[in-house]
Amino acid sequence: MQFAGKVGLVTGGGSGIGRATAVLLAKRGGAVVVADVNLAAGAATAGDIRNAGGRAEAVGCDVTRWEQVQAAMDHTVKTLGGLDVVVNCAGTMKGHLLEETPEAEWREMLDVNLTGAFLVTKAALRTLRERGGGAVVHIASRMAIRVKEGHGAYAAAKAGILQLTQMAALEGAPHRIRVNCVCPGIVDSPMTRGAYGQEAFDGWSRICPLGRAATPDDVAKAMLFLASDEAAFITGVNLAVDGGRTIL
Ligand SMILES: NC(=O)c1ccc[n+]([C@@H]2O[C@H](COP(=O)([O-])OP(=O)(O)OC[C@H]3O[C@@H](n4cnc5c(N)ncnc54)[C@H](O)[C@@H]3O)[C@@H](O)[C@H]2O)c1
Repeated sequence: MQFAGKVGLVTGGGSGIGRATAVLLAKRGGAVVVADVNLAAGAATAGDIRNAGGRAEAVGCDVTRWEQVQAAMDHTVKTLGGLDVVVNCAGTMKGHLLEETPEAEWREMLDVNLTGAFLVTKAALRTLRERGGGAVVHIASRMAIRVKEGHGAYAAAKAGILQLTQMAALEGAPHRIRVNCVCPGIVDSPMTRGAYGQEAFDGWSRICPLGRAATPDDVAKAMLFLASDEAAFITGVNLAVDGGRTIL
């Protein structure tokens, strides 16, 4: 999995899985733009990459805003000389039982997680087509395929990403653009540490065949495999990265 000579853009690269993905992409030789609504967090990731000898910069980008998404890709092409890989890790999670879900929360979950993925896909298809091809990787969730009580809006948004991935793969294929998606179970990131207590991790570890939660690095490796030339004949897939939980 080498990215020497390639340029990647990672949304949500200021924290958790996105941060791990940006760092690994740079370690494997790629130049990286870290795009995050939290510019300070994105800048910290980019700074760490540069301090380790890599090539990176940060842009503020809210994936729910079309102009900002397109501007982030234009900026990447202009400053780093290209764009080959787009990894869309931006996301947010809140949850209530459906009867108690405020409409604003429903809209926020769909807006950030699904509309954001759509806008990133739209800009990526345009930009990568002009460059003769490339790869896009999205992140859905186990909750896209197996429900968890109290997470209806998030699960619906993540389920939408599965279909978006297949549609984009179909439309991108004639232009040598591959589009794939990963479905992690629970990942030990700031998002889940903030939302759940330690008992959630302990409970998951008991029912997951591999006996632990994923690290952000576990997911980053799977996403970058799908983005790499090693996955040259893989498009439209949804790869479970859940320690075998899906087989039970
Ligand atoms: N942590 C898990 O257990 C888990 C499991 C399955 C899927 N996921 C998905 O993985 C992705 C990353 O999650 P994480 O656990 O690393 O969370 P995280 O909270 O650590 O990181 C999310 C990053 O996305 C950024 N972000 C949020 N809204 C944004 C927006 N509108 N525009 C641009 N950036 C935005 C945040 O600033 C943050 O830097 C999310 O899409 C999440 O739904 C996480």
